[in-house]
Amino acid sequence: MTLSDSSHLPQVRAQYEALPYPPRNPADESKRLIRTWLDALPMLNHHGFAGGQSFGQGFRVLVAGGGTGDGTIFLAEQLRATDAQIVHLDFSEASLSIARQRARQRGLNNIQWLHRSLLDLPGLGLAPFDYINCSGVLHHLADPDAGLRALLSVLADDGVLGLMVYARIGRIGVYQLQQALRLMHRDGAHDLATQIAHAKELLAHLPRSNWFVRAQELHHDHKMGDAGLYDLLLHSTDRAYSVDELYDWLADQHGLHLSLTDVGRGAAPYDCGMVLGPRKPALLAELATRPLRERQAMAELLGGTLITHSLYATRQPDRLARYGDTRMVPFFVHEPISGPELSAMIHRNTAQPLVMDHSHSGFSFQLDAGQYVKFILKFIDGQRSFGQVFDLVRGENKFRKAPPDDAALFADFEPLYRQLTLIERILLRRQDVPLPALAHG
Ligand SMILES: C[S@@+](CC[C@H](N)C(=O)[O-])C[C@H]1O[C@@H](n2cnc3c(N)ncnc32)[C@H](O)[C@@H]1O
Repeated sequence: MTLSDSSHLPQVRAQYEALPYPPRNPADESKRLIRTWLDALPMLNHHGFAGGQSFGQGFRVLVAGGGTGDGTIFLAEQLRATDAQIVHLDFSEASLSIARQRARQRGLNNIQWLHRSLLDLPGLGLAPFDYINCSGVLHHLADPDAGLRALLSVLADDGVLGLMVYARIGRIGVYQLQQALRLMHRDGAHDLATQIAHAKELLAHLPRSNWFVRAQELHHDHKMGDAGLYDLLLHSTDRAYSVDELYDWLADQHGLHLSLTDVGRGAAPYDCGMVLGPRKPALLAELATRPLRERQAMAELLGGTLITHSLYATRQPDRLARYGDTRMVPFFVHEPISGPELSAMIHRNTAQPLVMDHSHSGFSFQLDAGQYVKFILKFIDGQRSFGQVFDLVRGENKFRKAPPDDAALFADFEPLYRQLTLIERILLRRQDVPLPALAHG
């Protein structure tokens, strides 16, 4: 294999040859399936394909800088029963080898392996991809924009890019430690093992006043062994973005449309209302008049908890599944909660306002339950469309005399729908376009 040009960084490649990331043991594949946030097909379908993607008909996926294979394995498992093809590309042979062993362990044969730099993508003669995942990679390039352009050169016109890059505010303490360690190692005389030993020693002696320690609940990579520690604190090349910088780069320079969704928490940490809590300050009303991008930038600054930005980017606008279409199926994801259970919870709770403490995301918010909400929830089973759910609501004795029309029911359910989509717990898909089986699980 030849890595064709010098714009990839030899020191970055050397790191991932010595310390494949994330550290994975192929034998663990018999015990569990790691689910990567952006690659869950229901999420991808909702955010990038307006709920109408079947993932059949030769759907093509590229995992660029796929590392030891978390995203690739999850995608390949979900797409196992389809004719979709997945290409896993990485310039670290050691990482690629682990990813391959994991796939072999699972008997997956829908993956093609490419030992290349992603900067070579424009010249490889590959057919366009419908979905490209590039998670935790572009921020390690000397020129992240060159990496993005390489990805876009192989993205289908109506394709979706799933990106994760570091976030500036939540990583402030990380960069202070990186800088301290860089000062310590500036003569270049320390090997990898010594650098790691230094970082461990430093971590064990940091005062409570240190910014990394102050924000320690945000950082976990250094607990994942040497590969994680090195990736977090000793990386030779890494940069981070604020929300504003992200929009400048992806939206202004490249005309992409973005849907931000933080791992496990959705768009909630990008929402000032969610960040400021259930006792809403009056100034929220003024903020609400600002453009989305500005509100998201504010929320990042106020919340301070974003360490990465995960997002879907599309060339075409309006690729988010549309609320207000009776053909859409609403369904619950990411947690074991069903429509009837949520309906019963709202029914039981007479407190006004009803505040939900959502432990998975850490957010507390008011649940806006309108007149029909608990009836609508009762009939949401992940199979019925809104149209079918609404017919069942109209069939309830209580509403027979004056049945609400679709518009009234959509309007009544909308505040709750918006809250649940902010934490990514309810999604939409078109009923006539079923998802592959595992995607429901
Ligand atoms: C932090 S790891 C992320 C791995 C994986 N995407 C994940 O999220 O689990 C970064 C990966 O990108 C790869 N990488 C970095 N620069 C690359 C380049 N120019 N071409 C191909 N792979 C690259 C590294 O080898 C490494 O496996």
